[in-house]
Amino acid sequence: MFQLPDDKQALRARARELAREVIAPRAAEVDRSEQYPWDNVRALTEAGLMGLTIPKAHGGPGGDFLDAALVIDEMAQACGVTGRIAVEANMGAISAVMHYGSEAQKRLAAQLVLAGDKPAICITEPDAGSAASEMSTRADKRGDHYVINGEKHWITGGGVSRLHLVFARVFDERGEEQGIGGFIAVRDETEGLVIGSREPSMGLRGIPETQVLFQDMAIPAAHVLTPPGGFRRGFAELMSAYNSQRVGAATVALGIADGAYRLALDYSQQREQFGRPICEFQGLQWMLADMSIAIAAARLMIHKAAAGANPFPDATEAAQAKIFASEMAIRVTNDALQVHGAMGYSRKLPLERMARDARMFTIGGGTAQILRTVVASRLLGRKLPQTRDGHRKLAARLSGAAD
Ligand code: FAD
Ligand code: COA
Repeated sequence: MFQLPDDKQALRARARELAREVIAPRAAEVDRSEQYPWDNVRALTEAGLMGLTIPKAHGGPGGDFLDAALVIDEMAQACGVTGRIAVEANMGAISAVMHYGSEAQKRLAAQLVLAGDKPAICITEPDAGSAASEMSTRADKRGDHYVINGEKHWITGGGVSRLHLVFARVFDERGEEQGIGGFIAVRDETEGLVIGSREPSMGLRGIPETQVLFQDMAIPAAHVLTPPGGFRRGFAELMSAYNSQRVGAATVALGIADGAYRLALDYSQQREQFGRPICEFQGLQWMLADMSIAIAAARLMIHKAAAGANPFPDATEAAQAKIFASEMAIRVTNDALQVHGAMGYSRKLPLERMARDARMFTIGGGTAQILRTVVASRLLGRKLPQTRDGHRKLAARLSGAAD
């Protein structure tokens, strides 16, 4: 796709105007105060950009993942935190619920997100980060509900999100393991959902990452998200929906990089040394050229992964795009900072914030290492030894064999 259709160009122009006029002027304060930017959430909600991918039948505008990527890109160029809010309001948990959920679950999720909620997705645990399928949070069936106990950490939006999609290992009434399921909990309504301490993060400081604890949290069976393959295929199918969030994360990285690059391009034409604008020096020209090439390549990968979604982006394309965009964003934000000399290092300008914000994307949402393993495993069409143990243990548990 080389030319966006008119409706997508119009959406991007609308998002760009909002990002430049409303979101950008607040970005430094969001970083400084470390407060969740409720004003930005209100602006996104009023513009119809929270829940953009919610189908018309559920009150949303019925946009697709490419629409979401265009909006996230614009927001992230202005403010990484707002870009991330736009990811979680359009991809990840919300797409899993809108795709696999019952009618009532879809109504609940659509209502919350269209009113401005950014859902939280709860996968990572202290002892199960990359090895996510080894999570120990458990959901025990008790009559018409499940009782969930466990601990997640690094949950984006802990304490501000209402809708939580909680991944847990499921056990039937006899204590036999069924697989992994997704459970829908709503903060302030679901008892036993406890928000723990906040991580003091390096970047993207306007959005909290916290522990989330489940203390005998009772979830009615009606709030269990059951993909078509049931709990046995639950992890794979929920991760399949999660591929949309990986494309979203890649897009935030892209936007942050592009924002930094544009500042460097401008600065290099204004700042003079040795009697000439510094853009006259070939050393900087080549840096700017390399930045522009990497940004263009990342955008193409992201657009391809988003536009090809069926119903979710392909796992390999999503991982490839996230690896490339996240590593590119670290390089480009650092190079853009370098082009500014000492001013790049000053907190008066946004370059140091952009470099800190970009640093997260090779970690959150699947590390660059684990995603390379995902890509290689799919290219080679087989499990690889570096993750096979986890898979074997899960398979053994499901077949009732001892660990
Ligand atoms: P580990 O798994 O302990 O990895 C440590 C290092 O070992 C990494 O470099 C990793 O790449 C490497 N490594 C591990 N296994 C392998 C292997 N097999 N081969 C090669 N290298 C390997 N989680 C959620 O569930 N919800 C969220 O909303 C969320 N938000 C986050 C927001 C931020 C800002 C961050 C930083 C994290 C967030 N996370 C969230 C958690 C994130 O998904 C995990 O940090 C990530 O999956 C890695 O897990 P870990 O930190 O435990 O690292
Ligand atoms: N898209 C679609 N399916 C996926 C998937 C994805 N992104 N990731 C895993 N799956 C499927 C696998 O294909 C496999 O299905 P199969 O049984 O048909 O082969 C199943 O899920 C289990 O995956 P497998 O790779 O065998 O699991 P593992 O125990 O070896 O662990 C992962 C590897 C998947 C946990 C690891 O690659 C991973 O993604 N870790 C990062 C976790 C993460 O992103 N956390 C973000 C929290 S916000």
